[in-house]
Amino acid sequence: MKTHKWIRITSCDNIPLREGRAVNVGGLDIAVFNLGGRFLAVDNRCPHNGGPLADGIVSGTTVVCPLHAWRVDLECGAVTKPADTAACLRTFRTRVEEGVVLLEVSALQASVKEMCVEEEIACRPAAATVAVLRPNIEPTDRV
Ligand code: FES
Repeated sequence: MKTHKWIRITSCDNIPLREGRAVNVGGLDIAVFNLGGRFLAVDNRCPHNGGPLADGIVSGTTVVCPLHAWRVDLECGAVTKPADTAACLRTFRTRVEEGVVLLEVSALQASVKEMCVEEEIACRPAAATVAVLRPNIEPTDRV
């Protein structure tokens, strides 16, 4: 029995270079980042105080939380600033297929997703750009 499943998220074009977007998959709030040539995904909840990492500033392979500037490594989920912090976020494997970003989630989360209406899986832009980008965001399996 498969324990993981790939879920189609959104067109690659909906996540601008060096920016993040939040997506809800079966109740999981995940931040997906476009690092140019590859996409990285972590929990969209800063381990410090829950800040929305998808709204953070991408620097190299890290994102700086928009609330208090903690820095998280997007490849492994570890907090790199402050350096003495042992907190680590969950990371999610991604892949691109025919111009669409896919996320690997547990089969349990995937089954929750399948029970939801399509609108539950929505890729939402960073708060600051919501008015501009929302019309371009196609929620999921229909991209
Ligand atoms: S909530 Fe992210 S640094 Fe405070």
